[in-house]
Amino acid sequence: MGYEKQDGTLQQIHIPAELDIYFPLPAEGENLTEYLERFFSHNEEPDTWTHCRKVAEQAVQLAEHYQLDSRIACLGGWLHDMSTVIPDQHKLVLAAHYGITILPEERQVPYLLHQQLSSRIAEIVFGLHAPELHSAIRCHTTLKEDMEPMDQLLFVADKLSWQASDAAPYIDRMREAAHYSLEEAVQVYLAYVWGEKNRIPVLHPWLIAARMTVQSRQYLRTLPALSTDIHWGPVTARFQVWSDVVRLDSTLISNVSIVPMVGDQFVMIQLTDGRWELPGGTLEKDEPYLDALQREVEEEMGGTLLDYRVFGYFDCRSSAEHPYRPYISHPRFIRLAGYGQVKLGGAPLNPPDGEQVARVDVVEIEEAVDRFQRSGRSDLADFYRMGYYCWQQQSGVPDER
Ligand SMILES: [Fe+2]
Ligand SMILES: [Fe+2]
Repeated sequence: MGYEKQDGTLQQIHIPAELDIYFPLPAEGENLTEYLERFFSHNEEPDTWTHCRKVAEQAVQLAEHYQLDSRIACLGGWLHDMSTVIPDQHKLVLAAHYGITILPEERQVPYLLHQQLSSRIAEIVFGLHAPELHSAIRCHTTLKEDMEPMDQLLFVADKLSWQASDAAPYIDRMREAAHYSLEEAVQVYLAYVWGEKNRIPVLHPWLIAARMTVQSRQYLRTLPALSTDIHWGPVTARFQVWSDVVRLDSTLISNVSIVPMVGDQFVMIQLTDGRWELPGGTLEKDEPYLDALQREVEEEMGGTLLDYRVFGYFDCRSSAEHPYRPYISHPRFIRLAGYGQVKLGGAPLNPPDGEQVARVDVVEIEEAVDRFQRSGRSDLADFYRMGYYCWQQQSGVPDER
């Protein structure tokens, strides 16, 4: 790694002018942890040094347990809280200086910026560039939607290493969960924060998204047909929980599906041969996915799309020799999955080249699930269930957790 020489002593570090009041000059023959001890005592934060040491130890233990990179885990532990020594007002100035997008919640509680600033410091001062390290430091307080195992590891190690006097009621349960699943340990903490949400000053949007992801993934595991490979003719599909369509590779998106809703009820389409089908379809060449969905809702339901919210996608792989249409990605492609309100009114347009819809029904979720299951489509039963669950979560219908 860039910060140390062969013998383990600290390499030349770079202290830019805007940070020089916080960073003492390194001493000859000093290693990183010795330097950090001096750094925190220079900033009169010896307790934070103790905390970082504990996080590093905890992170290494977890990394060994889960066979993750213990070197990265250790560095994450040592470096994640460096920027807590910076006063809040200066955090705001530095974040702007480094081009970090400051969210309204971070403006309100600038302490939250320390996760991003610590990552920036690790890069600028110590010349560390490992993406896994930066990702973990950047979300060690809030997590984020697309969390990787190392992100979860540092988050958990951090929460388990607070001072004994701060030990919160969830610590024991979190420690126990961390033995068998990082995600389960994350869930323990997020459930606790959620319970306290009216008592904490702000909820960071990344934390809200992280909670949604973890809960949706846990719910997905209860759906046997949606949590395993699904076979649609030559296509094998695997459902993934996901909401940020912008971060998907748009060249892979070739289909779009919807769990269509009218109020809190669900629209089902039945083909002329009696099969209940999955609403949505394949994009035309260069057609944006929302335009495609609008078109499909007209063709299959005679309706209008009012809104659409992505809650996942089917990661598909085709064993066919040729792509389904010449312009779509092949053999791997993505089928977007979301729920949305539709307005029904006319009859399905049923263009001659598409599937012919004979019937459009609006039913309760239980009825939709029942009809899919009775016709042998447990994949679609689970898909509607997943849509219903995400709709409940995102529309603020109270949940029991
Ligand atoms: Fe922190
Ligand atoms: Fe920390």
